[in-house]
Amino acid sequence: MNPATKTRSVILGTGSFAPENIVTNEDISRKVDTSDLWIRERTGIRERRVASAGESTSDLALEAGRKALGHAGISPSDLDGIIVATATPDLTFPSTACLVQGKLGIPGTFAFDVNAVCSGFMYALKVADSMIRSGQCETLLVIGAEVMSRFVDWSDRSTCILFGDGAGAVVLGKSGKEGSGGVGTVTLHADGRYWDLIHVPGGGAKTPVEMERPPGNACTIRMKGSETFRMAVRTLEESVREVLKEEGIGVNEVDWVVPHQANIRILEALSERLGIPLERFVINIDRYGNTSAASIPMALDEAVQDNRIRPGQGVLLTAFGSGVTWGSGFVKWT
Ligand code: ACO
Repeated sequence: MNPATKTRSVILGTGSFAPENIVTNEDISRKVDTSDLWIRERTGIRERRVASAGESTSDLALEAGRKALGHAGISPSDLDGIIVATATPDLTFPSTACLVQGKLGIPGTFAFDVNAVCSGFMYALKVADSMIRSGQCETLLVIGAEVMSRFVDWSDRSTCILFGDGAGAVVLGKSGKEGSGGVGTVTLHADGRYWDLIHVPGGGAKTPVEMERPPGNACTIRMKGSETFRMAVRTLEESVREVLKEEGIGVNEVDWVVPHQANIRILEALSERLGIPLERFVINIDRYGNTSAASIPMALDEAVQDNRIRPGQGVLLTAFGSGVTWGSGFVKWT
């Protein structure tokens, strides 16, 4: 299927939101045996945002969603549905999307969550794009939102340095004009054999949380960092090449890469393998760390608001995350 010949979805507006509270590397180095230098050199992170006690995922999602709607000039009542990508929902159920829908005051509109952890935004984008392409919907709000800080073991220096909280959103609409730009190829992949590379053992039906929280039930992130790193570089490159091939374009037609922000060294390796200079990557990991499903829409919004991303440009989105999951997509900006 050649997406260029079909009805496309277009990104009508973007928005993002991050909690006010900044936690620097220095702050973390007062709690665990690490240093600002180690964290900066090994990850590219300088600081991250951490939600305050009263803030949760749906609050961040709501703020990002409202901003995206504002930039798109779309009223909440114009939406056909809301999809929230998150691995850190407010509650086990109902979905965070339902909580956002309730806060936006648009009863009746469908709302559901997608969980593909750090690849969640790519998965949600593909679902939303497919619904618009098939003619089932015209206007959707797609949000990536996470409060990772509540699932971090703040005594584990190998993971607590990495994650942060935030939300990003896009309003997707129907293009109306064939071949006029918008969301092109989006490819998704997963390999569940590697489910334990990055996981949270407790809190699900298999290992419910008990009052004492024995180690096997801990509701905090466990990660095999080096294996994850290697797999991320390989799969990101493969899926980007897959998208470029499907689109029939070369790297020169990619003006901006908006990647999941997991580690600056992953992005440097990807840049080298693809032959796309790092200057064409939108990078904000230094200020936000890894915000999982929120990272791509947050970076996208930043580059749209500061006019780096402009109409007519080619924008490549790419993510890797727990599952393991990965995926990439190409958007001709409109
Ligand atoms: N400060 C100081 N030393 C540390 C720290 C720290 N914060 N963390 C680990 N170390 C030490 C280790 O103990 C080890 O010491 P040793 O050699 O004495 O045993 C040494 O540093 C090297 O450890 P590695 O784990 O090999 O370090 P590495 O260079 O691989 O960096 C990191 C670790 C940053 C976690 C990296 O592996 C990484 O970024 N991995 C990928 C993460 C990722 O992509 N996640 C994406 C998905 S996340 C999701 O889906 C939720």
